Amino acid sequence: MTMASIKQAEQQYDVGGVLLERPFQITRLGHFGLTLAKFEEGVRFYTEILGFRISERQDVAQNAPAVVRPLIKMIKDRDVVMLRHNTEHHTLVLISTSVNDLGERILRKRNPVKEITTNQITWQVGSLAEVVNGRDYFAARGIRVLIAGRDMPGSNWHCYIEDSEGRANEIYYGIEQIGWDGRSKPTTLYQRIEKPPELPQPSEWQEIDDAAAAGVDLTAGHRDIETLPPVHEVDGILMSRPFKITRIGPVGLLVEDAERALQFYRDSMGFVETERVPVGESQIIYLRNNTEHHSLALVPIELRDKLGLSAHSTLAWFGLQLGNYRQLRRAIDFLRERGVTVRDDLTPGVHPGIDHAVWAFDPDGHCLLLYWSMDQVGWNGETRGARAPAGPVSTWPDQVPGRSDAFNGQVFLGPLA
Ligand SMILES: [Fe+2]
Repeated sequence: MTMASIKQAEQQYDVGGVLLERPFQITRLGHFGLTLAKFEEGVRFYTEILGFRISERQDVAQNAPAVVRPLIKMIKDRDVVMLRHNTEHHTLVLISTSVNDLGERILRKRNPVKEITTNQITWQVGSLAEVVNGRDYFAARGIRVLIAGRDMPGSNWHCYIEDSEGRANEIYYGIEQIGWDGRSKPTTLYQRIEKPPELPQPSEWQEIDDAAAAGVDLTAGHRDIETLPPVHEVDGILMSRPFKITRIGPVGLLVEDAERALQFYRDSMGFVETERVPVGESQIIYLRNNTEHHSLALVPIELRDKLGLSAHSTLAWFGLQLGNYRQLRRAIDFLRERGVTVRDDLTPGVHPGIDHAVWAFDPDGHCLLLYWSMDQVGWNGETRGARAPAGPVSTWPDQVPGRSDAFNGQVFLGPLA
């Protein structure tokens, strides 16, 4: 531990001069990884239909040690595709099942866990010290640390750990930001580090100054090209889709043992319980780490069939927030016109804090929760309470009244497209 995290009192850690129960504070979902069986079809779905942009596409054989390269080259879909919806290098990571299984064995040194198709669930913390001290904290609590160091592409310092059922979670600091020119950092600047760093480390600004002085072409990084015509007017801008994904999350996980999962996410990761909603004999637990009603839902696995979720995965849903109510309604038509299954017969109460929502399904069957607004919870933890379900899309009005927290919470920075 560094000086900054010297334990001040029982269960108290100094995080930037603030005493907390843990040496880090998760502030939001930063990125998310899906493992796909129908890989190329999935990449097309997330890019062409949903509008994620590719910031990097890498053949994993390229950087693999020479001894395993022939083995990797036998895999058909062996690219890692990194996508973004905002200025961060990646907010979604897609890999094929074969690459996932190989990565589990080689990088994470464990066997792939059945039905886990989330290759990472990644939470932002506020500093590098929090990542490093967090790693020590997890290890001291007997939580398995899978990898700690610095990721490339993306440049973020990270620590991967295993949740109570084997899912890889990650805390990270400092992911690369992509600016107006849409270019990722040039690959010549990649420096993968596979151990926790000594502190302090140089700033990114210093790294880029040094690279420029050494003659590196800072404009050599990848820039994605839009392939669809800009024919949809979205609130004053011509775009290629009639909507924009402005935020990722919440994540819904199907869990075998909700109590153990709660211990991991609440007690070790620091999530705060917002509420519990009964569904039949079971209950779903909703947790948050910021002002949104929830960023995580723990859904008992026995609800998978009852809710009509895909049997291949223990991901219940992955939330995608759209810019506004009109965009959500237009997105539903856009997706249906392209043959995507969109369900609006959702079990009442499964998405507390959200009024209008639908489920769309990717080619593998992963459920994407599309919505535009989520209740915000303030300092005293009070929630708005249950309200009548929105019903099928055909009954939705053209306009909805603006609630006191409409458009509040995490904001989208920069142009929509
Ligand atoms: Fe990551």
